[in-house]
Amino acid sequence: MKRLVIIISGRGSNMRALFEANLPAQIVAVISNNADATGLDFAQERAVATHVVNHREFPDRQAFDQALADRVDSYKPDVIVLAGFMRILTETFVSRFSGKVLNIHPSLLPAFSGLDTHQRALDEGVRLHGCTVHFVTTTLDHGPIIVQAAVPVLPDDDAQRLAARVLDQEHRIYPMAVRWLLEDKITLSDGRVQINGPRHFPDPIISPDNVD
Ligand code: GRF
Repeated sequence: MKRLVIIISGRGSNMRALFEANLPAQIVAVISNNADATGLDFAQERAVATHVVNHREFPDRQAFDQALADRVDSYKPDVIVLAGFMRILTETFVSRFSGKVLNIHPSLLPAFSGLDTHQRALDEGVRLHGCTVHFVTTTLDHGPIIVQAAVPVLPDDDAQRLAARVLDQEHRIYPMAVRWLLEDKITLSDGRVQINGPRHFPDPIISPDNVD
């Protein structure tokens, strides 16, 4: 059985979606940089090992990344899932687990990398927004893209309503992408992702539609 380590910083709703997805893997540990992350309680209730590696206890990013990488490595994971992990990882971490680390970002990358994605999408007046699962590289929010989900931006949206609509889709596509990687259905070459096997592609989404 393949081994999965999940790294979080906060409430961990994407982590929960992974727990509930019946993935062909054992979730062997949940690690947080933040001792107050509520997602840790959920993992503990399921008797999964939890650890806090607090970035504030390290002199710099390298030292934190080294400690985090050592902790992760001690579980010998096949796949490492960042689920709302709010720290930027350096070469120290990323190169050690190349092709094994996934992240979810709440925008249709490469648009709106970084923070406050929902408010920025509203401010730009985009008609479609969404989320992206990608491999982690040293460039923030710019790794090879595996899967994206788009949602319409509605006229009465505020950042909170839009975030909730996107989050529903995050909970759908993150388990999908992790499953494909666990089942060796993903090939990564020249910085592009190929997903092997039959796939369904939806009709285009037009937003808004049917304006008379
Ligand atoms: C999600 O929107 C995720 O895309 C972003 O941070 C948020 C984390 O939410 N990286 P949760 O902790 O998974 O509930």
